[in-house]
Amino acid sequence: MRQSLVMGNWKLNGSRAEGLALANAIATGLRPGNKGIVVCVPYVYLSDVQDAIKDTPLALGSQNVADQESGAYTGEISAAMLKECGCAYALVGHSERRSYYGDTNESVAARFVQAQKEGITPVLCIGETLEERESDTTFAVIDEQLGAVIDLAGVEAIEFSVIAYEPVWAIGTGKVASDQQAQEVHKYIREKIAAKSQAVADKVQILYGGSVKPSNAKAIFAMPDIDGGLIGGASLDAESFLTIYQST
Ligand code: PGA
Repeated sequence: MRQSLVMGNWKLNGSRAEGLALANAIATGLRPGNKGIVVCVPYVYLSDVQDAIKDTPLALGSQNVADQESGAYTGEISAAMLKECGCAYALVGHSERRSYYGDTNESVAARFVQAQKEGITPVLCIGETLEERESDTTFAVIDEQLGAVIDLAGVEAIEFSVIAYEPVWAIGTGKVASDQQAQEVHKYIREKIAAKSQAVADKVQILYGGSVKPSNAKAIFAMPDIDGGLIGGASLDAESFLTIYQST
């Protein structure tokens, strides 16, 4: 049985005070022993939020990580720095990074490797655009995005990661993939991994992301290959986020 996981991605939102209030409100809504709930916080608030949640079941993640270990890479944040701030998870290859900031399959794979070197669990975000879905290339896109990471890190590394399937057309648009559409791709991802290692495929958590809300979370999470969610907009409200968490 895979542990379910719900992750909030705050993106470029909120102030320090708002972030702390949100983290505290989420943590207050959890019971000791709750597991599998994470917030991915803007870099500059990571340490503050970590101080606020350190004795609670809520875990911390970043929204990205550098593809290099250290050196002359102005503006970048390394996995070791994130570790020092208390990050247990790091998103890599979010579609907004891929489409607005030029992240490539290769640089995403390098970020994945950097995170794991520091014992941070990378959350590999993959998914097709609307154009790709309509031209029937969803599975080819998944093959390339996942394949780049497996080529660099090896299939065994996938066991110590999380995969987030996020169809780009469903992110922040209010358009959610149907439970069956999401399940179909999740199953495909798991089979792809199983072709190289059944044991890894059985263990890896695959999350769905894209307009998950309290009203649709339960049905999505009920699908056999969906182990939880990566939540954007609805994670900015503690009550919504907790309701989604409770839907796993
Ligand atoms: P959304 O974002 O829930 O606002 O659609 C999901 C994501 O980008 O991770």
